[in-house]
Amino acid sequence: MSQTEDFFKIRLNSIHPSSPVTFDVYIPVHQKMVHYLRAGDSLTADKIASFERKFVTSVYVHSSQRQLYRDYVYSQMNSSSLAPQDKASILRESSMAMLEELFESPEVGPALKEAKNVINNFVSFMDQEPEAMGHLISLSGHDFYTYNHSLDVCIYSLGVAQAVGYEGDELKELGEGALLHDIGKRHVSVDIICKDGPLDDMEWAQMQKHPEFGLIILNEHDVSEAIKACCFEHHENFLGNGYPQQLDGEEIHPMARIVALTDTYDALTTKRSYNKPMAPKDAVMFMKEKLFTRYDKDLLEAMHQALFRL
Ligand SMILES: [Fe+2]
Ligand SMILES: [Fe+2]
Repeated sequence: MSQTEDFFKIRLNSIHPSSPVTFDVYIPVHQKMVHYLRAGDSLTADKIASFERKFVTSVYVHSSQRQLYRDYVYSQMNSSSLAPQDKASILRESSMAMLEELFESPEVGPALKEAKNVINNFVSFMDQEPEAMGHLISLSGHDFYTYNHSLDVCIYSLGVAQAVGYEGDELKELGEGALLHDIGKRHVSVDIICKDGPLDDMEWAQMQKHPEFGLIILNEHDVSEAIKACCFEHHENFLGNGYPQQLDGEEIHPMARIVALTDTYDALTTKRSYNKPMAPKDAVMFMKEKLFTRYDKDLLEAMHQALFRL
């Protein structure tokens, strides 16, 4: 038994039942960690069913074995015996744990470092699997809104960026920026983020501070200027009436323009308790017809192509 703070959370669904784990798995019992599965053992269907009965969706790994867990996910992603949809699911589930850590953990550093590994996995999946985007998008889930939103904006942004010719390190940088774009929401009250209805003026004012909060967090870590721009400039728009700086179109960082676009697309197509989601095609048409003055026209067209090539 050990103290809980030496552990990080992973999703149960990031472990594939047919292959033995290469790390030790723990579960919390009365705020102590109990050794549940030894490296080399498999998570059998019986064990998964027993977790499901108890509504357990996550287990824990000791921080000293983080690299073993990373290697495990990497080897699953490169396994020839796993179907692309299983790989997409493992990829999303393993990333979700990183996002949970990013928004919930008192110390943001480890999750920021982990973001690089998450993006490497996404880009290598896109390289090896022609239908990667389709598999990843079809799994858009029902998790806490901010986690899913961050992941989906990341996936769409990678698709748009690839369509306009981004590759290599630049593509990864854009992916990281998109994944982290709303990191400033760490400092916005969860009551506002999860509010079941429109925000009042005070709440809206706090919500609109998230790009600044995000920049403050990223400035304390070793993060590139482009990644910071994705965070600080994703609510700017081409009319010059966005926030927080009211930048004109050409002043907005090219990567932040992509995130601004996919951020809106995700908001239009995601079900929140107080609004009905638009169908993907309707959302793109709505953006092209009604919101086109706000965005980079070429990127809007690229998003249309990237989404409906699926
Ligand atoms: Fe945002
Ligand atoms: Fe966002």
